[in-house]
Amino acid sequence: MHINDIIKNRRSIFPKMYTGQPVSDDIIKQLLENANWAPSHRHTEPWRFKVYTGEALARLGDKLAELYQRYTPAEKFQERKHKKIAQKPRQSSHMIAICMQRDPEESVPEWEEMCAVACAVQNIWLTAASYNVGGYWSSPGLIKREELREFLGLKPDEQCMGFFYVGHYDGAMPMSKRQPIEDKTEWVRT
Ligand SMILES: Cc1cc2nc3c(=O)[nH]c(=O)nc-3n(C[C@H](O)[C@H](O)[C@H](O)COP(=O)(O)O)c2cc1C
Repeated sequence: MHINDIIKNRRSIFPKMYTGQPVSDDIIKQLLENANWAPSHRHTEPWRFKVYTGEALARLGDKLAELYQRYTPAEKFQERKHKKIAQKPRQSSHMIAICMQRDPEESVPEWEEMCAVACAVQNIWLTAASYNVGGYWSSPGLIKREELREFLGLKPDEQCMGFFYVGHYDGAMPMSKRQPIEDKTEWVRT
């Protein structure tokens, strides 16, 4: 596939669409290898990943559901959502915690480190699309919670920027659309 097609055909594919067939660890390693070729200012390479699979997915799902229950005010709590949060990791083949390690020298601003991690995630996402493997980036508000940091084993200078869910999927690719790039671009020639 040409890169233009991979970029255009990359979609968010959610756990409810996954078949349950495991994605091979070799593909996951290739996603991560390509993540590692993302650009970073001053070569800080701030991306860090924690890969959950097998029984660890249920533990992660239970932790996310527990924290949703603990931190959602009673009037906003929905049992349906609580169940879904616990179920999504179980429906996935792998989940990758997307983390950023701050450069100890703080040689570049934090936003640049976050951008570098986002570039790495796009590499993961495009590589998954090229293998016809589904994935999506989830960024729940809970990622800042201390209990989740502990669960993930984050060091003080690391932060979690969300989870990348991975699974084989069936059926048609969901539709997505964009407003024309011409509306978002200004060319300056003189
Ligand atoms: C930084 C980031 C965080 C995201 N967080 C979520 C999320 O928490 N929940 C969700 O359903 N989608 C999330 N997404 C996926 C977007 O909703 C999705 O990319 C967008 O709807 C466009 O659809 P597409 O990826 O199929 O083109 C996130 C995407 C990015 C880049």
